[in-house]
Amino acid sequence: MGVQQVLVFDSGVGGLSVWDEIRLLRPDLGALYLMDNARFPYGELAEQTLIDGACALICQRVAEAAVDVVVVACNTASTLILPPLRAALNIPVVGVVPAIKPAALLAEHGDIGLLATPGTVARPYTRDLISQFASHCRVRLLGSSRLVALAEAKLAGEQIDMGELQQVLKPWLAAPPEVVVLGCTHFPLLRDELQELLGEQVQLIDSGAAIARRLDQLLQPASGGDSGAGQLYVTQINERLTRQESAFAGRGFGEPVLVSAG
Ligand code: DGL
Repeated sequence: MGVQQVLVFDSGVGGLSVWDEIRLLRPDLGALYLMDNARFPYGELAEQTLIDGACALICQRVAEAAVDVVVVACNTASTLILPPLRAALNIPVVGVVPAIKPAALLAEHGDIGLLATPGTVARPYTRDLISQFASHCRVRLLGSSRLVALAEAKLAGEQIDMGELQQVLKPWLAAPPEVVVLGCTHFPLLRDELQELLGEQVQLIDSGAAIARRLDQLLQPASGGDSGAGQLYVTQINERLTRQESAFAGRGFGEPVLVSAG
């Protein structure tokens, strides 16, 4: 049996936080990382543009490469594209759901914060998730694209401006939630900085490890090997991407290959 391949999809570098968890559990899996950076940030994108663009890109990659499973490693995209994508593909599609359910179990006093993109906090998908699993909790929503941009900058080797981060978190800083759900895959990349500002008593949770466990259930058992390198596909080559190349190279991804955004 050859190396089983996972297609990891995001608008930017956020999917790397999910890929890091997959790699920890299953180093034998190979990856194609597909990044729609031409349409970044997804949190600000019109819904139909996001749905049409992301579905076409993913389907094209699956048609052209040997892919065993698709991971939509983007909460914003997952709120919209999972049904049409599953209808279009005949391989499993795993989406990222903000960790509201585990947060509701962890929060002793039912005080939860959801940190996500403006798109994710506004969607019926998120409201349904909250009413299904956390109707007994107080859930404070904070949508920020600025935070997404800060994570992109960090992986481009830039120093994080803690003052700017503090400004984003300002609505919560006087009395932070007990549990904060990192409902955007970019945010675990800023975990240390977020923890520093929110305080050690705040529990930060994300969905990366749960995605890795789901993949492990879906795929053939681990081969024991290490897949080594992966392939990076992007919809735009730009200066920021050039500065992010060491973050990708450190995770085994080669030179970016440009694909049409359509
Ligand atoms: N990483 C993405 C998410 O999980 C979206 C970031 C963006 O492009 O706005 O929501």
